[in-house]
Amino acid sequence: MKNYLLLSLAMLLAMPVFADKTPVPSEAPKSYEAECASCHLAYPPGLLSQKNWQNIMGGLGKHFGTDASLDAKSQAEITTWLVKNAASKYKYSALAPDNRISKSAWFIKEHDEVRAEVWKRPSVKSAANCMACHKDAASGGFNEKNIQVPPQ
Ligand code: HEC
Ligand code: HEC
Repeated sequence: MKNYLLLSLAMLLAMPVFADKTPVPSEAPKSYEAECASCHLAYPPGLLSQKNWQNIMGGLGKHFGTDASLDAKSQAEITTWLVKNAASKYKYSALAPDNRISKSAWFIKEHDEVRAEVWKRPSVKSAANCMACHKDAASGGFNEKNIQVPPQ
């Protein structure tokens, strides 16, 4: 028991080393890629709070103007994984308006240099379309070195 506690403490102490990178979640269940990446990016769970993910998973029948409902098994499996890997760092864990990463305070601040016209370009269409500019978004990479804003 004592060793276990020490190990937990060591893991906690080691965590801040990674705190500035996009959190790397435990491996996603296959259902997440299959069910949540057909219309858009499989959004990294660590960019949204637990409560936001619960709201999203509880309202899939009316999902941003579309029906994204699932069978009960996949729904339960995905919800558990999203909630477990939801944002832990304060910046990302604040409740985001409309359950949108793209409306969270940190998102707006990080993107304040992107002009309104840019979001409307045909190749971008929406702030939710992370991949239009973040070339590594599909693998969870949002580093500023890998951003290419499309010219139109
Ligand atoms: C049938 C298509 C479809 C499926 C399937 C789908 N979504 Fe979405 N989702 C959308 C649309 C449309 C939007 C709004 C996109 C926009 O504003 O450009 C959206 C937006 C989102 C957003 C907010 C993006 C932002 O920050 O603005 C999240 C989070 C999200 N979806 C999660 C999920 C999860 C989790 C699943 C799987 C359970 C899922 N989606 C499955 C269509 C879908
Ligand atoms: C129109 C292009 C565009 C879209 C679409 C976009 N971003 Fe960005 N993103 C940027 C730019 C430009 C920056 C600022 C980079 C800098 O600070 O130099 C940025 C910064 C970021 C950062 C901070 C990166 C760092 O290293 O500091 C994160 C995280 C991020 N975006 C996530 C997202 C997510 C998640 C989405 C989709 C929900 C998204 N972005 C959609 C262009 C975009």
